[in-house]
Amino acid sequence: MSELNKIALKIISNGKGILAADESNGTMTKRLEAVNVASTPENRLSFRETLFSSESMKAYIGGVILYDETINQKTSFGKSIPDLISSSGALPGIKVDAGAKNLANSSEEKITEGLDGLRERLKKYYELGARFTKWRGVYIISHRYPSRIAINSNAHALARYSALVQESKMVPIVEPEVLMDGDHSANLCLKKTSEVIKKCFDELILHKVDLSGIILKPNMILSGNKSSDKISSEEVSQKTLECLKNSVPKEVPGIAFLSGGQSEIEATKNLNLINQNNNTNFIMTFSFGRALQQNALRVWSKNDKDIELTQKTFNHRAKMCSLAAQGKWSNEFENK
Ligand code: G3H
Repeated sequence: MSELNKIALKIISNGKGILAADESNGTMTKRLEAVNVASTPENRLSFRETLFSSESMKAYIGGVILYDETINQKTSFGKSIPDLISSSGALPGIKVDAGAKNLANSSEEKITEGLDGLRERLKKYYELGARFTKWRGVYIISHRYPSRIAINSNAHALARYSALVQESKMVPIVEPEVLMDGDHSANLCLKKTSEVIKKCFDELILHKVDLSGIILKPNMILSGNKSSDKISSEEVSQKTLECLKNSVPKEVPGIAFLSGGQSEIEATKNLNLINQNNNTNFIMTFSFGRALQQNALRVWSKNDKDIELTQKTFNHRAKMCSLAAQGKWSNEFENK
C-alpha cells in the first residue's frame, strides 16, 4: 500500500468524511453577510475555530480543507490551525487552485487557474502541515455546455495539479463539479457528468497520476435546480452509482461528494441511499461545505459567544453525515 493510498484511506475510512471549510474570502463574505455578520479575518477564524474544536471532529471528520488565510492563522490559544485539526486526529488539507476564470472562446464557461508557481506553494503548505489538497473544476449544463473546450482544458489542469501534488507527497482531491444550476433533467446531468469524469481520468492516467492516491470529489446526479422534473432520492442514488461505476477506475480508493447547494437533509439522505445501494468497491463519503456548516453558521451568527450551542449543532450534522456514509442514517435521528 503506497503512502498516498494510506493518507487517502485515513481521511475517508470508518464513516469519516471531509469538512470543506475552504471557502475563499469572497465566498465566505457572501455566507457571513447572509447571516448579517461582517466578514473580517477575526470573524472567519472565530467561526472556523469553533467548528474545528468540536467533539465530533474526532469521530466523524477525517480531513478538513482549509483556505490559504486559515492555514496561516492561529487560534485564540495560540495554536496553529493545522495543529488544532491534527490534535483531533483529522488531517489538514488545503485548497490550492486560484479560482475559476472565464474561458477564452467559450466565455460563459470557466477554467480553473493556479498551476503557475504551484510546486513552490505546495512545498510551503506541506511544511505548514497539509497532507492533502483540493482543486475544483466547474462546469455548466445547457443544450450546448459543457463544451469540449471546457471538458478538455479543466481535465488537463486537474491532471497537472494532481501530478504536482503527489510529487509533493500529498493526496489530491480531484473535484470536477457539474453545477446543478439550470432546468436540465437528471439524465442530462448523468450524461454530462459521466463525460466530464471520464475525460478527467483519461488525463490523470496520461499524466501518470497514482489513482490509488487520489480522492474523487464529484457532484451527485440531480436534475437542475430550475427543473420541474425532480427525481426521488432513490433515483439520485441509482443514477449517481451508475455514473461512477462506469466512469471511475477501480484503483480509486474513495469518492467524497460535494453538496453543491442541496439542503443538509437532502444531501445526507442522498448519501445514505448511495451507500445502502453501493454495488461498487469505492468508499462513498462526504466532503460537504454548506451541508455541514449551514445550521451551525446560523446558530453562531445569533450568538458567537455560545460556543456550546454552535458545536452541538455541528456535532449533530457531522454525526448524521457519518451515519449516511455508512448507510445507517434515518430521518428519525434528525430530531433526537
Ligand atoms: O468546492 C466545493 C466545496 O468544497 C464543497 O462545498 O458542499 O457547499 O458544495 P459544498
